[in-house]
Amino acid sequence: MNYQEAKELLSAKGQEHLLQYYDELTDAQKKNLLAQIEAVDLSVLDLLKDREDQKRGEITPLGGTVTLDQIAEKKDSFYADGIAAIKAYKVGAVLLAGGQGTRLGADGPKGVYNIGITKDVYIFEMVIRNLMQVVKAADTWVPLFIMTSDKNDKETRAFFEEKDFFGYNREYVRFFIQDMAPSTDYNGKIYMEGKDRISMSPNGNGGWFSSMARSGVLADAKKMGVEWLNVFAVDNVLQKMADPCFVGATLQSGYPVGAKVVRKAAPDEKVGVMCKEDGRPSIVEYYELTEQMMYEKNADGEPAYNFGVILNYLFRVRDLEEILSKKMPLHIVEKKIPYMNEAGETVKPEKPNGYKFETLVLDMIKMLDDCVAYEVVRNQEFAPIKNKTGIDSVESARALLKENGVEL
Ligand code: UTP
Repeated sequence: MNYQEAKELLSAKGQEHLLQYYDELTDAQKKNLLAQIEAVDLSVLDLLKDREDQKRGEITPLGGTVTLDQIAEKKDSFYADGIAAIKAYKVGAVLLAGGQGTRLGADGPKGVYNIGITKDVYIFEMVIRNLMQVVKAADTWVPLFIMTSDKNDKETRAFFEEKDFFGYNREYVRFFIQDMAPSTDYNGKIYMEGKDRISMSPNGNGGWFSSMARSGVLADAKKMGVEWLNVFAVDNVLQKMADPCFVGATLQSGYPVGAKVVRKAAPDEKVGVMCKEDGRPSIVEYYELTEQMMYEKNADGEPAYNFGVILNYLFRVRDLEEILSKKMPLHIVEKKIPYMNEAGETVKPEKPNGYKFETLVLDMIKMLDDCVAYEVVRNQEFAPIKNKTGIDSVESARALLKENGVEL
């Protein structure tokens, strides 16, 4: 793409400012900038023009949650089926580590954050430690796929190298890089990170499967025998991946996906809960629940909308391949976006200053026919680190780890 073509493309989208420093750039920088402009998907900006909230379909209870009581009853059978699948390398784990963790506000990948008090305990270390539990139980390495982004790939790989993969067998680990999308200010103007660099951010965690397929890592996984992928967030330091009982319960359900869920603490608790939307599995946000729905009971006399998701899903690969060509909905999210100001200085904002465009794993669930919800004990499996202090923070996660006997 030459300068003239770039200019025409950008003016059609009101983004000519991306070329404002062009004359000051070296030839190499000019080439670099033009290449970025050619590669960036400007169509995401159209979303800002048409910001009417998407109309929701008819919300009904999901039903069929495998509750703690049922799990206790069928534990042996779930476990046996799960362990057998893991031993046959049918279950892979996908660590979503492409996010920027802007709320935590630490530089670098979130996984390198040290939550230790008397010794070093890194978030990635906790992930590996938790996964090792099942490796030991099954006496089999679980293939581990780590999604990074252009922003943190080098650092993430270097960190794993430096720590010798925290004892994990590196032959069973593959990294892949997710896609990026431009980030804009509140007027929809794309930010610049430098005079020859436009601001790009990871495009959300919903693109993990397509990025995995494009990178060739999915083909590798299938060669290893993987038929199911357990996707999880980097920041829940208490979670169990490739949990044999969860695997067994999902296999026995016959459904294409299983979701770990936690019971709501109260009918009006502010968490998104699993439901059906026009007959498909979905999530209803707390502010979308009417008073009546909040207190609605199912046939067993239990609240009908009672289980929140914790970003731990087990997907059947062949069903994901079927939806691979379908376009996923994009969401506009407000975030803190570092940018270059008029004076050419980098600004790291203290509060959100614009929009990023993201796809979400949740939307993959909606694309599938059914989902089995599998209850876990919140205090034993859910300690997300989103912030430094307060709710879902380093502080709250440390307390929960201690409660579960983890030394920090
Ligand atoms: P979050 O929604 O917490 O996003 O991600 P984040 O970007 O890490 O953090 P904030 O919102 O800026 O503070 C949930 C999980 O999805 C991954 C994250 O790494 C985390 O494991 N994720 C998120 C990606 O892998 N890619 C993305 O583009 C976004």
